[in-house]
This record gives sequence, structure tokens and C-alpha cells, in this order.
Amino acid sequence: MNEYDSCWLRYERVPDDRLDAYRRRCRHAYVAEEAPELSAVRDELRRALPALLGTDPHLWQHPPTTAEGFLAVGTPDDMAMIAESVPTDVVDDLADGGYLLKSVTWNGQDCLVVTASTDRGLVYGTFHLLRLLNTHDPIADLDVREEPAYENRLLDQWDTPFHRSVERGYGGESIFDWERLPDLRPRYEDYARLLASVGVNGVVFNNVNTTKPARPSANAAFDAFEGWQLLESRRLEAFTSLASVFRRYGIRPYLSVNFAAPMLVGDLDTADPLDEEVRAWWRAKADEIYELVPDFGGFLVKADSEGQPGPYDYGRDHVDGANALARVLEPHGGRVWWRAFVYGTHEDRAVQAYDTFEPLDGDFADNVTVQVKNGPIDFQPREPVSTLFGAMPETDLGLELQITGEYTGQGVHATYHLPMWKEILDFDTHADGPGSPVGSLFRDDGEGIVGVGSVGEDHSWTGHYLAQANLYAFGRMAWDPEASAESVTEEWVHQTFGADEQVGDTVTRILHDSWEACIDYETGGLGLMHMMHNGEEYLENHYDPAPEEWPGYHGATEEGIGVNRTSTGSGYAGQYRDPVAQRYESVADCPEDLLLFFHHLPWTHELDDGTTVVQRLYDNCFAGVEETKRLRAEWQSLDGKVDERRFRHVAERFDEQVAQAERWRDVLTDYFYNHSGVPDEQGRVGDD
Ligand code: GCU
Repeated sequence: MNEYDSCWLRYERVPDDRLDAYRRRCRHAYVAEEAPELSAVRDELRRALPALLGTDPHLWQHPPTTAEGFLAVGTPDDMAMIAESVPTDVVDDLADGGYLLKSVTWNGQDCLVVTASTDRGLVYGTFHLLRLLNTHDPIADLDVREEPAYENRLLDQWDTPFHRSVERGYGGESIFDWERLPDLRPRYEDYARLLASVGVNGVVFNNVNTTKPARPSANAAFDAFEGWQLLESRRLEAFTSLASVFRRYGIRPYLSVNFAAPMLVGDLDTADPLDEEVRAWWRAKADEIYELVPDFGGFLVKADSEGQPGPYDYGRDHVDGANALARVLEPHGGRVWWRAFVYGTHEDRAVQAYDTFEPLDGDFADNVTVQVKNGPIDFQPREPVSTLFGAMPETDLGLELQITGEYTGQGVHATYHLPMWKEILDFDTHADGPGSPVGSLFRDDGEGIVGVGSVGEDHSWTGHYLAQANLYAFGRMAWDPEASAESVTEEWVHQTFGADEQVGDTVTRILHDSWEACIDYETGGLGLMHMMHNGEEYLENHYDPAPEEWPGYHGATEEGIGVNRTSTGSGYAGQYRDPVAQRYESVADCPEDLLLFFHHLPWTHELDDGTTVVQRLYDNCFAGVEETKRLRAEWQSLDGKVDERRFRHVAERFDEQVAQAERWRDVLTDYFYNHSGVPDEQGRVGDD
């Protein structure tokens, strides 16, 4: 049995009716030159082609002299066949990572060309071709041109170095064994393959929390966070081996750094970003890093947030802090990703990121990207999009999404994030008038999309076999936000579970319906959120229901429920541009699924269809549980059709998900009933 799952890179034998057509063009393969990325391409073809085609394709290192058809991977300079089948200027015009796939006839033989202007593009093009073979697509008339929508497609590991743990990771302990570096584990390469196959081009290897906070934190027990140590010279030297594994797949390495590193790693007594010695320390550190890791991407910083140190400690602001680091990375082509996740000084947490960062628009250095979570709170099952999107036109912005499921069932529940991400990306910010969806932002150089990672040592990588779909979908969305959820899901399902239609349709239905079910049982579906249990233990629970712990987030009183974020409340709605601001400001126009995020309303307020708020909350909580049971039954119908290991794993998790959904429903509906005193029309809630 394999030590771990191959996820969507399974490479199973293609059906007989495809074999001839595929073999004709892939009996031989030519992969140009020996750049690190090209050696990775060669390895991938060695893995994939025999498994898919049942042949042992010959791999040429120079243009083949065979009379049979073949696959060529290289630039137009590498081979006449490539140059003649695709105009050089078309290839040169491709953005970094872009590629072309083409079926061609050469010397009377059916051939295939994968070409790009960069080595990274050849890696992506090869994975695209293998995806087509994996999903049994025709390849006789290929004419594909692909470019990534965003320059940066980053994965933030929240792995806690030296402890092998992953903050909010539900796939087991960290795959990265920092203590043993420079020794490498095969799993590193397989992870790089998974990421490159969906176009991820950067990994931040450690947690944004890099130290135990010096002052009280919203997060309990940070003792284990010693990520700042990664800037020590001996750690950086060991890091070079890890970086070289990911470099072969076109993935640039980044590190989260601690703002107080000059004191923690160096021996300075200040980390004031305007202090000359501090600046010199960062400069020397950056030079040292680039000497060791020339393709180093840059620093990710969580500053003045949840107890992490930052420029405020020295009376400076975020611009001072970010620019000080940017300045030392700039000569090396590196970038600072500076997080906008700040809260704590405002009564309504939602307003703070905008209040803090919007006034700083235009002041950040060119190589600073402000990294913004998708919503104003914290990866809740559903949130409105952040008001910062479209509000800082003079600043490079990055969109941070959560691949791991901190608030969506923590890898126990099957919750597919792609429909949520599509909703976010499609949301019209009106930043440049109508038709400015979130997904159309982040397109400038230096901008991009970031996913908080989910993998761990578990056989499934993600803790739940179906949660692999979130990792896959993240990469595909970051490459092409316009791709339909249907096509991305279909690709993943086919590659992961094979061609059986019943299995494919069932898994697809489960994925697509899972997110709304989670919203219903965890929130009641009208825009409430953050009703989970905290707990003091490492790390906070965030899994069980406990609406009584955080009354400020849902605003329940005897009279009503919801938080007034209009102009008569916290004013958050006014941070959007019109007409979005007007829509949220008005009870009548506010979309029902966010109504109680923006408005505090009487329990008996009537919704459009005449149902009261409290009745809708009851109904949705019950519906979410029924839906989860239906999804479980769908999965159970696959008994015998999916391998035992995956079938049982997902089936067991569904049992737990149903039990947990019932727990949420009961706690929430009782809470609503106890505050409102309004009985459920169907008698499901309360004493009887
Ligand atoms: C939330 C989450 C933390 C995380 C933080 C962040 O507070 O619960 O685990 O550290 O977000 O994104 O920085």
C-alpha cells in the first residue's frame, strides 16, 4: 500500500478506445535541455506515460531521429518542429507560465508540441497535457493557449517549524521536517508536483505566527511558534535543499518573518523600521538569503495582529514597516506580502482593516503587496467580500483565501470551497463602475491570489479525501478565475475517482451542495457567523457551536438579532462603493443571505416570502442537517464502487458530520428560541 495518496495525479491506464490515438503521438518524447524544470518534466513523463499508456515511451534528450510520432516539450529554439508549428513571436508574447499545446504533423507522423517562453510554462503545459490524457480527452486537434490570470499564485503553509504541526491544518502533522533538513523526503517532491500541476508558483513555508506574542493575544498558547528561527544562518543553509526541490517545479520559496527578527535572530535592542542599524541588519539578512536561494520570493509578514510584533511597537505605521523590508528585497527582485488582517481596537472588527489600510493607499513601495482576507471577519462560511477590494488602486493587493477548513468543518466535514470562491470572485465591487468583479482585480504585476494550505502527513494529505478538491480548485481558480466551477470539479473528480459516471456524478453533486449545507447548519443562512466555541486549549477549538461566547458577532437580544453595520451602526456598509453600499444599507435591498450581517432586525421581521427571521433561521438549520444526511446517503450509494480505503474514510467522516450538524442545529435553534421566545411553527425547537 502506498504511504500516501496520489490525489489527482493517479495516472491510471486509459481506456482501449483512446490508447491508439494517444500512443501514436506519445510513443517517444523529447524534452529539451537540462534546466531543473525540464528534468522535472522528464521525470513526470517517465511516471505518467507508462502508467497511462502501458508502453515504455522512449525519452530523447535531443531531437528524435525516429520515424514514429512523438511528443516534444521545449521552446521554438530547441527544435525545428516546434519553431515551424508555432510562430516564435506568439510564444514570446506569453506571460510567465503561459504555454501552448498543439497537435502537429511532422515528417508524416502525428506529433504533439508543448511549448512556452519559460521553463515554468513547460512544466504547466506538460501537466495540462497529462490532465487531458487522464480525463480521456481527444488530442488529435489540440490547439491550446493558456496564460495565468494572476502573476502570483501562492500557497501559505501555516506549518509551525520544528514542531511538525500545522496551525488550522487538519491533515495531520506537518510534512516538513525542518530538523532533518537538508535531508529531503520524497513527499516534498510529490507536494511540489501536486502544486505545480495546478499552477501554484510560490510557497510560503512557515506560519504567519512566528513567535509567542509579547502581549496578550486573541489566540491562546502560541508557545510553539518559533518560526523566527528560520532566519538563522544555519536554518537558511538547510533551507536551500527544500528550495531546490520546489525550484524544479517552478515554485519560488518564501518565508514568513517576524518583525522583531533583528532582536530575536540578531542581537539588536530594537526592531524600529526607521533605525539605521535595523535597516542594515535586514539588508545583510536579505543578501545572505539571496546568496543561498537566488530565486527566493520574499517575506510574508503578520504584524501588529493577534499579538505579533510590528511597527506600532515603535510608533511607526504599516507603511514604515512594510517599506523597510521591501527596500532590502528590492535589489534582489523580492517582494513583501504584508497582511491586512488586523482587528482589536474597533468595536466592530469588520471596519478595522479598511480604516487602517485604505488611508495608506499609494504609500507602499512598489514591491509590497497588501494581502487581504476575502472577507472582513475571518474565513467564515459566508462573508461579504472585503471592503478593501477596489479601494486601494495605487497599491498592489493580494486576495487571501482559506483552503483549509477552519470554520467549515475542519477537514471532518465535506465542505467544498469552490462555490464560495466563485461567489467571491464574481462579486461586483463597482471599483471601476459596474462590471468590476473581485476576480478582475489583482491582475497587475506583483498582485495575485494566496491560499492558506491544508496538507499534512495524513494518507489523504488533506485529512479528508474530498478536501483534496479544495486544494485542486484553489490552484485552478488562481490560474483562471473565469473557469466554471462545473468544469474544474469535473476535472478533479475524473482524475481522482476515474471515469465511472455514477461515481463522478455522485461525487460532483456532493461537492456542489456541501457548502450551502454547512452554511445552513452553522449559521442559519441569513448572514450570521462566528458562533463557534473558542476554548483555551492549543489551538482554539473553532469547531463546536457556542453562540453564547461571542454575542457581539451575531447581536442576539430579546428583541432581535443581527449586527447593525449601516450608517446608524458601525458604518461598515458605507465602506463599499455605491451602489453596493446602498444595497447593504437598506433592509429591503440587502441580499437575504447577508441580511443579519448588516442589520439588527426584530425576530419577527418578515422576509420577502412572509417568513419571519426566526422561523427562517430554524428552517435553515433543520434543512442543513437534512441536506447533510442526503449527502451522506449519496456517498453511501458508492459502496463497492470506490476503493475501500477512501470509501470507509469518507463514510465515517460523514457520520461525524451528520452528528456535528445536528449538534449545531440544536444549539443554535435553542439559543434563538431562548432569546426570541418565538416557537418554531413546526414544533421542532424548545421544550416539546
Ligand atoms: C484566525 C485564526 C488563526 C490565524 C489568524 C490569521 O485568527 O483563527 O489561527 O492565526 O486567523 O489569519 O493570522
